[in-house]
This record gives sequence, structure tokens and C-alpha cells, in this order.
Amino acid sequence: MSPTVASRRLASLRALLSQSDAELRAQFPEYFLTYYTYLRIIRNPARIEHLFQKAHDMYRYLEAEGKDVLDLGAGFGLEALLVAIYGARRVVATEIDRDMVAVGAYLAEKVDPPVTHFESKYGDGIAMEFPSASFDGVMANCVISHVRSLEGFLMEANRLLKPGGIFFLSDENNSLYLPARPRRRRGWRGMEREPDGPYFTSRRAMIGEHFPGLSSNQLLEAVRRTRGLVGEEVEAGVRELLETGQVRRRAEFGYRDPRDGQYPERELNPFWLMRKFRDAGLEPELLPAFFSRAIEVHPRQWIKDCLRFFCERWPALSVYVWPILRIRGRKVR
Ligand SMILES: C[S@@+](CC[C@H](N)C(=O)[O-])C[C@H]1O[C@@H](n2cnc3c(N)ncnc32)[C@H](O)[C@@H]1O
Repeated sequence: MSPTVASRRLASLRALLSQSDAELRAQFPEYFLTYYTYLRIIRNPARIEHLFQKAHDMYRYLEAEGKDVLDLGAGFGLEALLVAIYGARRVVATEIDRDMVAVGAYLAEKVDPPVTHFESKYGDGIAMEFPSASFDGVMANCVISHVRSLEGFLMEANRLLKPGGIFFLSDENNSLYLPARPRRRRGWRGMEREPDGPYFTSRRAMIGEHFPGLSSNQLLEAVRRTRGLVGEEVEAGVRELLETGQVRRRAEFGYRDPRDGQYPERELNPFWLMRKFRDAGLEPELLPAFFSRAIEVHPRQWIKDCLRFFCERWPALSVYVWPILRIRGRKVR
């Protein structure tokens, strides 16, 4: 990939993200604007640069030059597109939301010159239709804390990798970064708020339908005692409650959608996650936190510089001082 072509593509992507809201609305679904406005990227040169540097870091950790890369749960596909622009041979971005898939394809065409070695496709990250050993690199950004089967997701990443290939993961739900914990937990509790938290409401409807004879107090008690249970477990839990006065079965995690088991977002301990990597045949390496260079994104540049200095020397320190965890795993079996 010639550096001039890459610079031209980056410049056109920068211009695209610097358009007015009205221009963006005319091309993208409303939540593209909401998402990137929330991330403060739209018309913000420093944040755009931050995103570019971050994607370059991923490209470097994936050792993606001239290689085939898959992005699982790519969202609008921007990071994956950047990995393609920096010099991967082919990048496939898969996403479960079809509107986002369409945005990814649009972005690749809109960039000048268009990125023809980038593909945006619909796909569930846990059961991809690609043959085994299709990719040299697989990446997943801010996805793993949402997926139902973390083990299934890692096994699938492993299956899709060629021997020696690299899985790069980053996620904002690092449980060892304590300042983020109260906000995250408030969010979970909101799902169970009585009487209108969405998980609470769903369970009440499910139980009401299966056990129409319950009094309103019994129903309330059953809904409270089955927190975190999913599908048939909820029914079994209520039966147990009616027969023995207790629910013995324990939920794996207290806040899940009772219909499909989806997590709002779960906290992940990076060291526990590294063990899961090993179980899935990926030799893990903890990577330093990401701090962009020479642009002011963090409110106090000197704090950022200091943290960078220490985190680059001792990556394990990163997980205590930064909300985002980054791990890569090399396929060993
Ligand atoms: C927080 S977004 C991150 C998007 C993108 N990777 C980024 O960093 O901007 C999480 C994305 O994962 C997608 N997702 C969740 N579960 C998935 C699955 N099983 N397969 C594919 N995508 C999934 C969601 O639709 C959502 O777009």
C-alpha cells in the first residue's frame, strides 16, 4: 500500500467526519450521528486523530501488514476500514446489525480512492460461515462484554485464525478499573428497577403467562427471586419456589435479559479473561493502555504522558489506571 494512497484515504475520511450534522443525516442513519457525537468525534480533529492512532495501534498489534483480517462485531466498520487503509491485504467487517453493515459498505465506497479490499458483511460473531483458518488476524472492539457466550466467541475466533494468527481484543468493561464501577452497576440495576426495569418487566410477563394463578404478591416475589435466570430456568425457578419456598439455582450473572440471555454489558477481569484465552488455545499478552500521542484528548496532557511512560513499561499496570483492557492472543493450537 503506497503511503500517498493511505494519506489520501485518511484525508477523505477526515473530511467525511467533519461534515455538518445535516450533511451526515442525509447519508447515514440517525444513530451514526448519535454514536460519533457521543464519542465527540464529529468535526473534532483531535478526536479523529485519536481514532486514527488507535486503529493504527490495532493494525500494529495484529501484525496486519499484507494480511487478512476479520473484525467481529465491527459496528459501523470504521476501525476495520482504517486497518484496511493502513495496509492489510483484505479486511472483512462483520456485524449483527444490518443498518451498520450498510454504513460500513458505504464508507468504503465513499473514501477516495474507494477501499476495495474491505468488505462489510452481516454475521453473528459466534457462528461465522467462513471456513476454519481463513484469517491471519481477528479483532473485536467493545464486543466481548456484550456477547452471550464468551467461551463460544473465543473458540470461534480461534477456529477462524490460521496457526500463529493473532486475536486482538479491547473492551471498556475492565473490572479492575474501580472508578467506572459505580456508574456501570447503576446501569445494571436500572434493568431490574421495579416496576418498570426492562428485565424485571419481561420476567413478570413470562411468569404471569406461565403461572396465571399466582396472587400479585406471589408474582412479585417470584420475579424478584428469579433475577438473572434465563428462559426455561425462570419457569423452573418459580416451580422450585412454589414447591420448596426457595430458589436454589444460582444465576451465572444477576443482570440478563430473561428472554434471550443477553448481557447489558458485563465487567471483565483481564486476568480471568487471559485464562479464558488460554482455554481457547490462544496464548495471551496484556497490552499497554492506549494514549494518543501529541494531541490533546485527555484533559491533562502531563498525566497522560506519565501514565503512558509507566504503562508501556509495565502493561499490567494499565488495567488499574485505565478503563479499557487490551489483550492479544496468538493461536497456539
Ligand atoms: C459497542 S459496539 C462496538 C462496535 C465497534 N467494534 C466499535 O468499536 O466501534 C458493539 C457491537 O457488537 C455488535 N454485536 C454484539 N453481539 C454480536 C454478535 N454476536 N455478532 C456480531 N456482532 C455483535 C453490536 O451490534 C454492536 O454493533
